[in-house]
Amino acid sequence: MKRRTEDAATEPASPLERRLVFLAGKGGVGKSTVATALALVAVRRRKRVLLLGLDSDDRGRDVAGLRPAPGAEPVEVLPGLFRQNVEGRAALEEYLRLVVPVRRVLQAVFDSRVYQYFVAAAPGLKELMAIGKIWYEVDRGRWDLVIVDSPATGHALQYLRMPKAAYETFTTGLVHREAKRVWDLLRDPASTAVSVVTVAEELPVNETVAICREIREQLALPPGCLFVNRVHAPDLSAAELGPAAARPRGGRPADEALCRAALAAAEEEIAWGALNESYGRRLAAETGWRLVKLPFLFREEFGFGDVEALSRLIEPVVAPAAKPRPGREEPQR
Ligand SMILES: Nc1ncnc2c1ncn2[C@@H]1O[C@H](COP(=O)(O)OP(=O)(O)OP(=O)(O)O)[C@@H](O)[C@H]1O
Ligand SMILES: [Mg+2]
Repeated sequence: MKRRTEDAATEPASPLERRLVFLAGKGGVGKSTVATALALVAVRRRKRVLLLGLDSDDRGRDVAGLRPAPGAEPVEVLPGLFRQNVEGRAALEEYLRLVVPVRRVLQAVFDSRVYQYFVAAAPGLKELMAIGKIWYEVDRGRWDLVIVDSPATGHALQYLRMPKAAYETFTTGLVHREAKRVWDLLRDPASTAVSVVTVAEELPVNETVAICREIREQLALPPGCLFVNRVHAPDLSAAELGPAAARPRGGRPADEALCRAALAAAEEEIAWGALNESYGRRLAAETGWRLVKLPFLFREEFGFGDVEALSRLIEPVVAPAAKPRPGREEPQR
């Protein structure tokens, strides 16, 4: 399998040198896999990493081979790697506990129908609280890097739109101040990189082009990498397969059937490779983002070992070794 993982248009800026990496993308494309692979690279670089999931359904299950983090507190799933899932409603309640310290009053608020209605109906409130929690985790200085893995529902951008909308809607007061702090963090390229995960197929590519455009143009947030997952990169081209397929074999019927099946599988893999290649070119041309490709690993059960293998493949691209300064000699070992 080819090990080319990057199509670099520009000098790479390591997403791991930021304090916050936010991963957006459609459902099922590999956001949790990429988030975990990035976290593993960072941990190998001795960083203390918080992997923050925004999908409350992930609380009770393994994600990318990492054990569950069921409660509200971060769980250290590997040395230096913490997992936590943020749920907007819980984040709102946590926040209200800080501002309304009297338990009896607070319980009355939580029990009231007005509160229940407000939380259910206020558009974007839960997303706003969740992104506020992300800001808090980045700001509190406990982590070198916070990686946000967005939910399966695919409305990741809603989390990024909310602080801007709140900041612009409330021109003074508490909400304005809080939203501004979050918005300032998100749009600071020294702190944040908003990356996107996709697969190189027609529908996800159409959606990804729109997501990248909104991040860069409408929201004006600092773009990170465009991770292209599950890329087929066959070692054989159609031109090389043709003569092999045409060669007379004359073996036993069972061998003949096996050969035919192997040739059909090779043809299919070559077709997938060509499809991924052409959609990869489209992604590069239409987004202008830096592409980082992750190979499709054909496995009966995809697990932690596979995520780790992917992390080693992307490591030279997402965390390149520091170049020696000109005029300086490499240290002797
Ligand atoms: N590079 C890869 N090669 C082969 N299979 C992969 C690869 N990356 C991910 N997968 C498979 O795709 C599945 C979905 O990946 P993942 O859970 O990371 O996606 P997701 O975008 O987080 O999904 P959701 O939107 O549901 O949260 C994984 O369980 C795994 O089986
Ligand atoms: Mg996921």
